[in-house]
Order: sequence, then C-alpha cells, then structure tokens
Amino acid sequence: TFIPEVDFSKVYLRARIYVLIYASVITTAILTSSFLLLMFIGLPNFYGSWLMVVYGLTQHACLAENVLDHRLNCRTVYMNPLNRFCYWNMNYHVEHHMFPLVPYHALDRVHAVVKDDMPRPYRGLIEAYREIIPALLRMRREPGWFVQRELPKPVSPPITSAEAAVVQIAVLDWLELSQAATLARGHAMRVDHGPRTFAIYHTEAGTWHATDGICTHGKTHLADGLVKGDVIECPKHNGRFRVTDGQPVRPPVCKALKTYHIENRSGTLWLQLTPAPSLPT
Ligand code: FES
Repeated sequence: TFIPEVDFSKVYLRARIYVLIYASVITTAILTSSFLLLMFIGLPNFYGSWLMVVYGLTQHACLAENVLDHRLNCRTVYMNPLNRFCYWNMNYHVEHHMFPLVPYHALDRVHAVVKDDMPRPYRGLIEAYREIIPALLRMRREPGWFVQRELPKPVSPPITSAEAAVVQIAVLDWLELSQAATLARGHAMRVDHGPRTFAIYHTEAGTWHATDGICTHGKTHLADGLVKGDVIECPKHNGRFRVTDGQPVRPPVCKALKTYHIENRSGTLWLQLTPAPSLPT
C-alpha cells in the first residue's frame, strides 16, 4: 500500500537483481571453497547491520506522526565520536530533517547554532532507549499515545514581515521589488507583502519568475530551496515545482503553486499581485 502501483515493476526488478547478486556470490563461494566474497556481500547484513538498527530506531520511534515541526517527531542524540563516525552524524536527526540540504558532516555545526531552539537532546543511546522501550510497551496498549517533546520558548521574536520584506511600494496591483536586482542568477528570494509571501526566482538562464512563497506540501518557504534550471526544490522534503507555471514535477508535492507576472520597467522589477491564469496541464 505504500508503494505506488506504477513503481511495482521497479521493485520487482530490483528484488530480482538482489537475488541474482546473492545467488552468484553464494555459488562463487561454494565453487571456490572460499567465504571471502561473502564477507563483503551478504554477511555484513548479519554482523554490521544490527548497528544501523540500534542507531536508526532512535530517530523517530514513539514520537508524534504527521506533524510539520520536526522537533516533535525526531530525536537528536549525543553520541561519542566513534558512534558519530559510524552513523555519519545522523544522531543530529532533528537538524537533519529540518535542514536536509545541509551535508551530514556539517550537522554538528548546525546543531551548535540552533540548539537553543531545539528540545533538549538526549545524552546518549541509553537515555534514548530508556524512553523508547517503555513507550513502545505503552503504545501496545494505547496505540494513539506518543511521546510529546517539550519545546523551548522562542528566544527571539518571530521575523516580522517588515524585516523579511524587500518590498517597498505597492501601487495598485503591482509591487516594486527594489532589492531583487541584487539577486544572483540561480537563486531565489523571499518577498513578504502584508500577510502574503512570494518566492522570486532568477534562473541561471537570466529569466525571472514568481510563485507563492510557501510549499503546497508543508509550511516551508520555497525561497530557502535550490533553484535548478527552471525548477525550485523545496528544502523540506525535496519536492519540486516548475517555476514557470507552478506545476509539481517531483513528489511529494502534488498541488501546483500560483504563479505571478514579473515585469522589468526600466531596470526595476515589479511583481503583479494577482496570480497569473493557470495553464491547462
Ligand atoms: Fe514537503 Fe515542500 S514541505 S516538499
């Protein structure tokens, strides 16, 4: 039920390739009377993979489901350098989910920056499992129950639209984007106007586009994502939209964004606040 039916054939193909690889390795081991190849292909599942389960279960077990705030459904667990090395820093799991574009090796540095806004990290694997095991037992009796993480109070006021906005003047249906001229190619910027938020894109090809600023999949600012050609990749779950017409081009997004006209008037960019008519798909 989890895999879309259109992808079934890919699953079968991959499973058969795996069977073929394991069968060839076992046959080779028998024919050569040597287990050497099996030491690298097959047997590591027994003597190595259990560690992945030990680490991995701490990520989300017994936490909230279907929430957009990853501080409620992920655990950051402090680990010693050896465990962190084996686990590729994924013990900073809240940070990994909140900032998926940050490479794994920088997650500890991200943690240092954001930790005041995070729930208290677990002191180690033992503390994490002290929570997980009793919680699992309780969830057998009460399936709707989950561990509720305590969030810190915000230490700084939320960004006001005045701070985030780069928009100075609204004239009727048009908004002057005075600072957009500084936006380099291949980048996006966030523009707030009253309660509305837009994302402005300057593509590598030099074209300008504008869409709604918030991803239709979750409450994430698209301007924090990556511009790739005429596509914006959402920073949260890596869904993608075409910036020219707002259409989704990669799951998990499936609902289109509204798009807006941008006009260049004597070197100054203007954004039209009324959405462009949507194109037939
Ligand atoms: Fe999930 Fe954008 S919030 S893809």
